[in-house]
Amino acid sequence: MIHIPKAEYTRRRKALMAQMEPNSIAILPAAAVAIRNRDVEHVYRQDSDFQYLSGFPEPEAVIVLMPGRQHGEYVLFCRERNAERELWDGLRAGTEGAIRSFGADDAFPITDIDDILPGLIEGRDRVYSAMGSNAEFDRHLMEWINVIRSKAHLGAQPPNEFVALDHLLHDMRLYKSAAEVKVMREAARISCAAHVRAMQASRAGLHEFSLEAELDYEFRKGGAKMPAYGSIVASGRNSCILHYQQNDAVLKDGDLVLIDAGCEIDCYASDITRTWPVNGKFSAEQKAIYEVVLASQEAAFAQIAPNKHWNQAHEATVQVITAGLVKLGLLKGDVGELITSEAYKTFYMHRAGHWLGMDVHDVGEYKVGGEWRVLEVGMALTVEPGIYISPDNQSVAKKWRGIGVRIEDDVVVTKQGCEMLTGGVPKSVAEIEALMAGSR
Ligand code: GLY
Ligand code: MN
Ligand code: MN
Repeated sequence: MIHIPKAEYTRRRKALMAQMEPNSIAILPAAAVAIRNRDVEHVYRQDSDFQYLSGFPEPEAVIVLMPGRQHGEYVLFCRERNAERELWDGLRAGTEGAIRSFGADDAFPITDIDDILPGLIEGRDRVYSAMGSNAEFDRHLMEWINVIRSKAHLGAQPPNEFVALDHLLHDMRLYKSAAEVKVMREAARISCAAHVRAMQASRAGLHEFSLEAELDYEFRKGGAKMPAYGSIVASGRNSCILHYQQNDAVLKDGDLVLIDAGCEIDCYASDITRTWPVNGKFSAEQKAIYEVVLASQEAAFAQIAPNKHWNQAHEATVQVITAGLVKLGLLKGDVGELITSEAYKTFYMHRAGHWLGMDVHDVGEYKVGGEWRVLEVGMALTVEPGIYISPDNQSVAKKWRGIGVRIEDDVVVTKQGCEMLTGGVPKSVAEIEALMAGSR
């Protein structure tokens, strides 16, 4: 199984600490267990920031980083070993495991945090935390601060500055290391296999969820614990619903099916969309729309390289899609004017992509100082143009209505341009038709 090596977590913590102001402390909580209903829990997914800095997979844990501390810079609060609970719920690292297997300099039981953490914060000038994203944790933090304040008359020194950790941490997360790219390649490889499997299984009369099952099978078989986000399996007019997740309609002969799905490996997402004909053969209209989307995606790839800015790929897709829609008679007028007036948004209403990483819509700023961010080596992003012709659009000929096409791939910026992570699934009309013909 490909995963992030232990040394990389150490490197990340060191890199973060090197950017923190002198005499400061950073505190991050693990994700809470989410209840699905009554006593049924959702599959546990660690908080991405917490995972990024620790690789520690358990809930009820808190990372504390104290650059320059003599007795250890990295302290982890976590659950203690407990034979009874481990019999029911599975093994825990415990405080010893936190040190031995996860590189903590020191570890304490999470049940002791109220007694210990105020003492660690005391005397530090600044506290870094993800303020505002976890109300309960923010409240705890203020309680710990108040413990120190209440002892001020005894000489205790509460911190004076509270700093959002996001800026430092999320900028680090935006640049993927070689190890991260390796994990993302693996997630992409499995997701490609899943899309291929779904294409091959596609038949009129099946349900959207039948294809979702093919995806899930391939994800799990590949070692992914879960999809990186709710899979979208949208056939016919459902393909025009951008975040459709009902996935329960019957696949009809003559319709397209749009699948937007990707798995997660070691908390790294992949995010692929392919659109294909249920019966394996594109109609003339479907093909015409498909070719425009594909050409726009190719134009976007050419705009992804160091020194090009974030919006250039999007602008390329808008240009090609608008021109394509004019050529097909779906938009009327001058291409430049239709772009300026945003007339294309009736058919292409989302952006060409987003950062990709531990979160499918990953962290990182898109603008810096009011300007679009310039791309740099190691940034990972999706490229996902689409055309969606509403089934209710009375201003286009009937034959076009209800066609929705999106094509989405994942890339990492390289010195030369970008590396395609998701090349393992057919994309041209000819390739898709050939693959599907082979499975009929
Ligand atoms: N799957 C969500 C997206 O493509 O952004
Ligand atoms: Mn996406
Ligand atoms: Mn997607």
